[in-house]
Amino acid sequence: MSGTGAIAETISVVPMRMAHLEGVLELGFRAFDVSTMPYTSWSLSSITEHFDTQPEACWVAEAEGEVLGFVLGSMSYDEREDWGYMEWIALDPRARGSGVASHLVEACCQALFDAGAARIITDVEHGNEPSARMMRRNSFIEGVTVTLFVRKRSDEPGRQGRMPHVRSKPEDPARARVRSVARRSTGGGRSGE
Ligand SMILES: CC(C)(COP(=O)(O)OP(=O)(O)OC[C@H]1O[C@@H](n2cnc3c(N)ncnc32)[C@H](O)[C@@H]1OP(=O)(O)O)[C@@H](O)C(=O)NCCC(=O)NCCS
Repeated sequence: MSGTGAIAETISVVPMRMAHLEGVLELGFRAFDVSTMPYTSWSLSSITEHFDTQPEACWVAEAEGEVLGFVLGSMSYDEREDWGYMEWIALDPRARGSGVASHLVEACCQALFDAGAARIITDVEHGNEPSARMMRRNSFIEGVTVTLFVRKRSDEPGRQGRMPHVRSKPEDPARARVRSVARRSTGGGRSGE
């Protein structure tokens, strides 16, 4: 699982290009367990929302043409224009433990600071220790903790213990802001999810 093998030494961190889209999408499907956060989702539009608005904050770790990691950020807090949002980061297991995550974070954060960010926000799910430790090591400090409270429908048969399916996430202001900025910047023509 550790990325200390030969492949880690051949990894380059480069700005994301259109040619990376498929590899980023596929790696995200392998890396993110979105079932633990039913209000969020990983899809092609999750990538393009950031790539459209802030391409310079989207970086890829690649080796021999293969996408082994990525980070996606943008200036998405439109109520706080001086806040950047580093929303998605993932590494292929072969690239983990190699320092590549810190290079991706640094490249994304520099781009967001250059774009005017005074603060950069990221969210780490409770229990994701590798991500939390890596963020702390890269100068992120815990801020507000948000707990998802779930009330189940009492007459719903056969769904005990399962989280409700929520297609969109109006209760997540950060993502709503990403969408609203992305729609504005693309002329409002996209339907989103
Ligand atoms: C989050 C992620 C990008 C971090 O990359 P990484 O290469 O694993 O990060 P690093 O090795 O630099 O740092 C991970 C830290 O967690 C520790 N760690 C690794 N696995 C661990 C585990 N199972 N439990 C506790 N700590 C763990 C490492 O020892 C290291 O600690 P250190 O800073 O004290 O040395 C990567 O783990 C990943 O892709 N995870 C899946 C996707 C994800 O969760 N993304 C974040 C949410 S959007």
